[in-house]
Amino acid sequence: MPAGFQQLGGETVTGTLALSVFTAVLGSLEFGYNIGVINAPQKIIEEDYNATWVHRYGQPIPTGTLTSLWSLSVAIFSIGGMLSSFCVGFISEWLGRRKAMLINNLFAFIGGSLMGLSKLCRSFEMMILGRFIIGAYCGLASGLTPMYVGEIAPTSLRGALGTLHQLAIVTGILIAQILGLESLLGSEDLWPVLLGLTVVPTVLQMSLLPFCPESPRFLYIIRCQEHHAKSGLRRLTGRQEVGDMLAEMKEEKRRMDMERKVSIAELFRSPLYRQPVVISIMLQLSQQLSGINAIFYYSTSIFMKAGVQSPVYATIGAGVVNCAFTVVSLFLVERMGRRTLHMLGLAGMCICAVIMTMALALLDSVPWMSYISMLSIFGFVAFFEVGPGPIPWFFVAAMAVAGCSNWTANFIIGMCFQYVADLCGPYVFLIFAALLLFFLIFTFFRVPETRGKTFDQISANFHQRSAGGMMDMDMDMDMDKPSTEL
Ligand code: GLC
Repeated sequence: MPAGFQQLGGETVTGTLALSVFTAVLGSLEFGYNIGVINAPQKIIEEDYNATWVHRYGQPIPTGTLTSLWSLSVAIFSIGGMLSSFCVGFISEWLGRRKAMLINNLFAFIGGSLMGLSKLCRSFEMMILGRFIIGAYCGLASGLTPMYVGEIAPTSLRGALGTLHQLAIVTGILIAQILGLESLLGSEDLWPVLLGLTVVPTVLQMSLLPFCPESPRFLYIIRCQEHHAKSGLRRLTGRQEVGDMLAEMKEEKRRMDMERKVSIAELFRSPLYRQPVVISIMLQLSQQLSGINAIFYYSTSIFMKAGVQSPVYATIGAGVVNCAFTVVSLFLVERMGRRTLHMLGLAGMCICAVIMTMALALLDSVPWMSYISMLSIFGFVAFFEVGPGPIPWFFVAAMAVAGCSNWTANFIIGMCFQYVADLCGPYVFLIFAALLLFFLIFTFFRVPETRGKTFDQISANFHQRSAGGMMDMDMDMDMDKPSTEL
């Protein structure tokens, strides 16, 4: 074996494969960074919004307007993501995976610069526009990264390498939370640097992408460039003989050529496709409507209300738990079924949400309840990463509606959480508990376990469940790839 090559799960990880995966997940890192970055400095940036208002209109900003402006600054990120995630399929076919990632960095540059300069220009509009554009970057990255990684990874490593997308997201969140400390960059003067720093992974990704091969699957199946696909495979695997992989792709291409393109309306109308589509959308909704981003966008103020002494450190604690349990899930995902892990995560989150509600409701009479609410938030985050965090991502690469529904639900939480929290007080997490219970029941009754099954077996499984004839899920979900198994 050539030097610098590592053996993993019986498969060789070449330097080129490692570099390409690392470069791609820099996009996920940036996605996570922008999820976590507006949490800690909320109060400081709000003060600046107020200062701008005073400067313009000679009076302090009304509280309602400030809440709206802040919620918009948080949530418009997901509108950008919603719109761009819908274009992932089209753009990745048009430009290719690598060039699409390269060009996407332009969004990150523009978005990062607008946010970084907004204080200087006394403009919250620039900040809001910047959040929208960086959201568009993240929407594309959240589809392109799992797609590229899934396509360049050897079959037996797709699951493990696929989880690195979520690991990079949570690492990005944690880095943003730490840098957001007031003693670091979360201060009155330095918050623009904190937001502008998002261009750093961009520069790194742009300089590394030229050394990464284009996805051989894209080159062969979409562009019909067998020769280029072969040399990409050789670089990625370190093997001269890649005939077996090419044969696998040939078979996939043959099946795809026989299939007709299906419109989105048809996807929902036809009983052949409806079930896998509905399942994949429900998985995305279970990830987002679990309420996880209520924590990652607003935990500092949640901890404050829960009477926690240092809310910013508690937020970082949540980020650390988040990272740690993503690693746990990396190992579990190969041992336990994806369906089991997903249900375990949903059930655990549901229980934690109920405990959190009780703790918050009792806070006035029992002061140490603040510790219980903090621990239950940590538990909530830990259970999220066991299943509902990493698992739904496997589906986004294969289906545009999945990515888009993920971002839509992300937007709804970002926009509405603060209002609903003001309305419901300590009982707000009961809404998430009810939703989690619903998704748990749905997963139990409707989502099949497909780990270790072949494509034909999965197909037959759905066939029994749907009234219609034989279903070919490969077209839209690529169910024969281990990376999309649940
Ligand atoms: C998932 C979600 C993302 C969330 C993150 C938390 O990646 O898609 O919205 O913020 O997990 O770890």
